[in-house]
Amino acid sequence: MFRGRRYFSFSFNYCIFAQNLERFMSIDNRLDEYIAAHSSPEGDYLYRLYRATNVEILNPHMASGQVQGRLLKLLVKMIRPKRILEIGTYTGYSAICMAEGLDSDGKLFTFEIDDELEDFTRRWIEGSPVADKIVLTIGSALDIVPTMGEKFDLVFIDGNKREYTAYYELALEHLNKGGWILADNTLWDGWVIDEKRQDAQTNGVRAFNDLVRNDERVEEVILPLRDGLTIIRKK
Ligand SMILES: C[S@@+](CC[C@H](N)C(=O)[O-])C[C@H]1O[C@@H](n2cnc3c(N)ncnc32)[C@H](O)[C@@H]1O
Repeated sequence: MFRGRRYFSFSFNYCIFAQNLERFMSIDNRLDEYIAAHSSPEGDYLYRLYRATNVEILNPHMASGQVQGRLLKLLVKMIRPKRILEIGTYTGYSAICMAEGLDSDGKLFTFEIDDELEDFTRRWIEGSPVADKIVLTIGSALDIVPTMGEKFDLVFIDGNKREYTAYYELALEHLNKGGWILADNTLWDGWVIDEKRQDAQTNGVRAFNDLVRNDERVEEVILPLRDGLTIIRKK
């Protein structure tokens, strides 16, 4: 009898937990759909690039997607940079979004270390309506940017999470006063607050977040959009 009641209580509580979890998750999913439906569409070209990325390329979740892509474009329109640096092109989705927001005399320099992506990414960038505003370089941004002699008004950090602190120092060094840094994935699936996660990528994101927070040269805020997007302004 006692065991039966315990079992009943356990299974009853489990059912409530499962129902709440399902409700919570479906609200979450439905909210994502609502946000996407009430944000500007990405347009046919980016839609086809996103689909091709999902069908032909490994790890398609790395592409920014419609909502973050629209945010990047709007932030570029607000900041009105003349020179943008992107660290981590992948298939070019975010590069094209930011280039859409650039004025006609603006340029975006994007770096991708993985040469196996070059054929796909170059074809999609060069075939895009904003091709003339984008310069794609295959190689590590950490090695090449210091040799360019360029200053930037906006840097989008979206490369290897283990290298985020190095990208940050690179970005600050090559950023004009009053310039902006956007850093993607700074909540890293929520793992930044899970002490059990001690892998190099999670620790890389944590080190970056701590470094930025303690740096008097900048002011910053983390937006809980998608996987976390930090907006940083160099004073
Ligand atoms: C998350 S993906 C970029 C996604 C892309 N920005 C978008 O939103 O569509 C990260 C990319 O950074 C590249 N990467 C990693 N380390 C890099 C480095 N040091 N320099 C340039 N690219 C790098 C990876 O090969 C990968 O393709």
